[in-house]
Parts: sequence; structure tokens; C-alpha cells
Amino acid sequence: MSNSRLRPETIAAHALKSTDESTGAVAPPIYPSSTYARDENYTPKLRENYIRNGNPTLWHAEDAIAALENGKGCLLFASGMAAITTLLETVPQGAHVVAPDVMYYGTRDWLKILEQRGRITLTLFDATQPGALEASIKSGKTDLVWIETPLNPTWDVIDIEAAAKAAHKAGAILAVDATATGAVTTKPLELDADIVFHSATKYLNGHSDVLAGALVTGALTQRWAEIATLRTKIGTPLAPFEAWLLTRGLRTVYLRYRQASANALAIAKHFERHPRIERVLYPGLASHRGHAIAAKQMTDGFGGMLSLLIKGSLEDARRFCTLLKVIVPATSLGGVETLAEHRKTVEGPQSPVPDNLVRISAGIEHADDLIADLEQALAKL
Ligand SMILES: Cc1ncc(COP(=O)(O)O)c(C=O)c1O
Repeated sequence: MSNSRLRPETIAAHALKSTDESTGAVAPPIYPSSTYARDENYTPKLRENYIRNGNPTLWHAEDAIAALENGKGCLLFASGMAAITTLLETVPQGAHVVAPDVMYYGTRDWLKILEQRGRITLTLFDATQPGALEASIKSGKTDLVWIETPLNPTWDVIDIEAAAKAAHKAGAILAVDATATGAVTTKPLELDADIVFHSATKYLNGHSDVLAGALVTGALTQRWAEIATLRTKIGTPLAPFEAWLLTRGLRTVYLRYRQASANALAIAKHFERHPRIERVLYPGLASHRGHAIAAKQMTDGFGGMLSLLIKGSLEDARRFCTLLKVIVPATSLGGVETLAEHRKTVEGPQSPVPDNLVRISAGIEHADDLIADLEQALAKL
């Protein structure tokens, strides 16, 4: 049966299946070699013969991720930020970029640095305002519309189909940071996005032990070829061992993502009307302002990410994280273990994130243990 007829759960579960028929190995070998010999005609045996240009372990991981996102190609990078900065290198000098004002702060900071240097012009829009994205796009000037959905750490949801329509009408491309969707619950390329990005450090790997970034394209365009060339020129590809670990983690992404979604929903419901919680931000709750769009474009759960607005000060929210016993007070997301993080401490005082916001990345533990841990920490505040 060809891959195109398999369901995504099956594609993911078989992601590490070896193509090595000579040994019958069920898991593929890792190719750590930095260089590959030429044959008797001095022709490279593989399509690339130097590790920075590509290698078999990388291709294996890239093919699996491209299949999960229904893309025409995937490029893996040494980190999520390496993927983002390489993509941004393809924006023409002085061109206009549109992005949300609340999103992963590392991307926002880098966009602002590029703007300060005169490399790009930038409009940051308020994703909670209807029509703000469309109003920010300048026809003929905007080169790239960068969105993230759900948005970190408010988990507001951006309508990908509408964003793609607006970007394309103005001659821009739409790139979607879909890290929080785990390539499970939303398929941005099917909603007309041009490029999907994942910090593969998160759900795709899922075990908090790999740093990696992925770009997946819906079409093999000139722009895509330029990104691939830049990855080689700048030298930002993922190393073979990390690529192998990533493929290993990818096999269970559906199981992990669904359990994380179930846990996040259980936590969100439990604390939605809690005397010590001001508000729960989770797109799976009907009370969340992004719920209607989420229900439309998150087709396999609402994900494992939520935020709790604690009743109290910045110090209370930060102390709350230190009182947790099962949940780990650490940054990052998408791993098998639940993490809690006080975002303002991490992002700094200039961040638009509320002082009392604690971000939770639900893992795959039993929901009752997580809820009990959050309850005991709240009781001690
Ligand atoms: C939504 C989002 N995008 C991008 C990144 C950057 O990825 P990385 O840390 O793999 O460089 C992160 C990392 O936290 C993220 O959460």
C-alpha cells in the first residue's frame, strides 16, 4: 500500500521503519559519516556527498515529517530558531513582514532585530481583533505573513484559511508556526498555507532530549529551493544523531499528543471555575475566545498547552511554580512530562504576557495526579 493511502497514525508509527533490505533491520542505522566516497567514475554515490548538504538519516526524518504534514518536502534544521532565521533570510531586502504581537517571543525578538537593522519592515498585529491581520498586509509590499496557532502563551487561534487568502491576495506567502499542533490536530498545508514550521524540539520529538526545527512546504517552489540552498550555505542542518532520535520520537506522536490533549482538557475544565484561578486559557474551552476557530481547524483535540491566570501577583504566580511536586518547573513544551512556567520571568518585563500567567505543557501522566499537584500548590499560596 502506498504511503498516500495510509492514515497518519500508521505513517507516524512506521516513521523509523528501515529501508535497509540487505539486513532486514526494523530500525534504520544512523549514518554519522560526514562525507561519502565517490564511485569509479568519480560520481557521488548518494544525491549528496557531504553531511552539511544532506545525509540518509536526515532524509529519513524529513520524509516522515513531510508525509505527516502532507507536504511536498521537509527540511530539518539544528534548532527551531535556525529554521526560522534561515527562512527569514529569503525575505528580500526591505520587504514587509506581518506577524502577531503575542507569539513565541524568540521569533518576535528576532523580527524586531531585523526591523531595527533595516533588513525588513514589520507590522505586528493583535490576533484577538477581527480583521487585524488583513489590515496589516500591504498589497505588493508584504512578502511574508508569519502566524502561529495556537498562539503562545494565550493559545488564541488564528484562522489559517483566512490568513492564507489574505496573504495570497497581496502576493505574500503564509508560513505557520504549528509547533503547538504537533502535526496531529491541524494540517496547515491543507488549509492553503505555503510553509509549516515546527520547533521539532517539542511534540515531534516529544521526549525533551532533542533540539531541532522543521520546515515543510506545500509546493516545490523557487522560494523553497532558496531555503534549501541557504541551509547548506549558512550551515544550519540537523545532525544525524538528533535526526534519528527525532524520528524515534515521531513514532508515538499521535499517542502522546492525544493523551496530552486529554490531560490539558481535564486540567482546564477542573480549574475553569476555581476560587484561586482568575482565568484558564485553553482553546478547548467554550469560554475561550478562539474556541470557534479552534473547533474548525483543530480536528484531533485541542492540544496539550494551556495557561492559568493565578489570582495574585507576579511573585505569587512565580512561587506557585516552585510549589509543584509532580509537574516540573521548566521551560519548553511538548514532552511526555508536564511542565509549568512563569512566562513573564522568562520573557522579561517588556513582554505583553500577563504577570500572573503560568503556562502548562500537559504531558502523558494521569490527569488526576496533575490536578492534585496543581491543587496542593494553589492551597499553599
Ligand atoms: C512556538 C515556538 N516556536 C519556535 C520555537 C523555537 O524553537 P527552538 O527552541 O527549537 O529553537 C519555540 C521554542 O520554544 C516555540 O515554542
